[in-house]
Amino acid sequence: MNSKNLIEVKNLEFYWNNQNEFKIQVKDFSIQSNERKLILGKSGIGKSTFLNLICGMIPPKVGEIYVLSQNLNSLKAWELDKFRSENIGVIFQEFNLLDHLSPLNNILLPCYFTKNDLKKSKDRAFLFGEKLNLNSELLTKSNSKDLSTGQKQRISIIRSIINEPKIILADEPTSSLDFDNKNSFLNLLFDICNTEKISLLMVSHDLNLRSKFKDVIEFESFFKS
Ligand SMILES: Nc1ncnc2c1ncn2[C@@H]1O[C@H](COP(=O)(O)OP(=O)(O)O)[C@@H](O)[C@H]1O
Ligand SMILES: [Mg+2]
Repeated sequence: MNSKNLIEVKNLEFYWNNQNEFKIQVKDFSIQSNERKLILGKSGIGKSTFLNLICGMIPPKVGEIYVLSQNLNSLKAWELDKFRSENIGVIFQEFNLLDHLSPLNNILLPCYFTKNDLKKSKDRAFLFGEKLNLNSELLTKSNSKDLSTGQKQRISIIRSIINEPKIILADEPTSSLDFDNKNSFLNLLFDICNTEKISLLMVSHDLNLRSKFKDVIEFESFFKS
């Protein structure tokens, strides 16, 4: 275990019990501080499954996953929920905002698993809202139904950093976006990762993202040995 690694995966094997042909196998994978990595692979190959393994949503069949030197296998379910909320920011495909909650309460969702001071988190939400051009009136409107795509993107970014994580996992966050929205989303996310010193692991099937990342891994060759 190298303590410089934010994430370290060792001799991982994973398969679904009801599926014979699907298997992820990876001997060694890591993410260090301030790294930005893209995993590219076609639909159905196992990208979301891999991210779920890394954040402890599903346990590996073989091998170990360490996040910030913590072996996820050794945490109980409630400890995992808390650990994940405190240390890992997540951005989902389609952003997964809950329509019936205000933008602010969507941002604060990860805070309900932690002991962080909610007032401090709210201040942080408003601070980043201001930075990203989302004023307090917008953040506190009664629901999130009628937000534009651009607003949803920015809210999902703020939600991912609300607990000051060291790493963001992003699951195809640009897949539903047109060219302009895709670029503005990536620029915003990269900016925030730089200024807040957060590492980024993104997975996608979109080959156009390759040019945006220095560090690109092909899922097919790396995870299917
Ligand atoms: N909860 C689950 N139970 C059983 N099989 C699943 C489950 N989730 C995903 N799979 C299967 O795992 C494989 C990889 O899926 P996924 O990780 O979603 O791929 P990707 O994100 O690259 O599109 C697919 O064959 C999918 O059907
Ligand atoms: Mg997926």
